[in-house]
Amino acid sequence: MPEDVKVIVIGDSSVGKSSLLKRLAGEDFVEVQESTVAVEYYHRQWKVRRKDINLQFWDTAGQERFRNLIPRYYANSHVAIAIFDISNKASFTSLEFWIQELKRYAPSDCKIILIGNKADLKEKRQVSPKDKLPWTSESKHPKIIEISAKTLKKPNSILDSIASEGLAV
Ligand code: GTP
Ligand code: MG
Repeated sequence: MPEDVKVIVIGDSSVGKSSLLKRLAGEDFVEVQESTVAVEYYHRQWKVRRKDINLQFWDTAGQERFRNLIPRYYANSHVAIAIFDISNKASFTSLEFWIQELKRYAPSDCKIILIGNKADLKEKRQVSPKDKLPWTSESKHPKIIEISAKTLKKPNSILDSIASEGLAV
């Protein structure tokens, strides 16, 4: 039996959560991705360190009108992926809110992965790869992975990272 790893994906509306998850689940990128209503579910079988894993992705809506629905989905999460858009500084600043929510509602051993999406929009970049979350100490700062849901060739290495974090819980 594969081991279940529950992953919750959070971040402001339009940072590319659904676009990235579709790529991770094996689908193609689409320019016109509809904004998520409440929560959607994706899953992907993956193998890491010879272990079969069922990655369960919970894709949450970033729009404010759904905010009070999201907290219940944090329960039992092994990994949280907080996403911002490198071409939108406000979405990076919002991580403070998202990580507070995570600390409040997710299990205390839930692992955090930070992703800067839309890395293909280099000429519109508003967040430097060196930018740090101001409220987090250097030693506890999660690594930021830059990615583009649009130009991503193979999702293998990101799936490996997520699965490894999930197994480490
Ligand atoms: P909500 O569901 O409202 O929370 O938004 P979301 O975070 O799921 O964003 P979504 O995946 O719907 O993407 C928003 C828009 O950004 C869509 O038009 C996507 O096509 C576009 N987009 C997503 N990822 C990328 C990327 O890596 N590069 C570029 N250029 N556009 C992207
Ligand atoms: Mg979405």
